[in-house]
Amino acid sequence: MSVDGWHRVEPVDVPGEGRVRSVVVGGRTVALARCGVRLGALDNRCPHQGGPLGEGSIENGWLRCPWHGYAERDAAGLVQRYLARLDGVPAGGGSMRVADGIAQLTGAGTAPAFRRRGIQSAQLSARLADATAAGCDLAVITVQPGSKSQQNAQRRGFDLLYTRAVLAREDSSRRLASDGEPASAV
Ligand code: FES
Repeated sequence: MSVDGWHRVEPVDVPGEGRVRSVVVGGRTVALARCGVRLGALDNRCPHQGGPLGEGSIENGWLRCPWHGYAERDAAGLVQRYLARLDGVPAGGGSMRVADGIAQLTGAGTAPAFRRRGIQSAQLSARLADATAAGCDLAVITVQPGSKSQQNAQRRGFDLLYTRAVLAREDSSRRLASDGEPASAV
């Protein structure tokens, strides 16, 4: 049954805690996942090679594909997404995942035309305020070392936890890249 574009899921189809199952809703098969009181409905086809996500498993809130285990999806909407606007125009975005009292700040970006206008700082403030309201006493963020993002994070009280070096080989040359991961209490 559909009401205003929403489809009802029968209680018998709701998976057990920490489980996922394939359910036909409105003529379409979805992967229905349950984490605590939260339910998530995702496309049942894995974006990698079409594996049936409804037959996968949930680990720490992430739905893992049963075929190769590469694809991880936010199983029950645990990732909050943010859109920053300046004068009504989308200027940047970011996300945050909260689990076990820890906020993971992820995926922040600012549109080039809006750089150096406080978009990152505003996004940090909004996410840290939400993390505090959600009961978090710790937050982590990953940034490139020496970047403006690292400066912004450290200005907001993050400390450097560790620096990770990533080595990659390109055809005939080698390149060294590294990134850092500051973290501190909210
Ligand atoms: S089909 Fe899902 S990880 Fe490959």
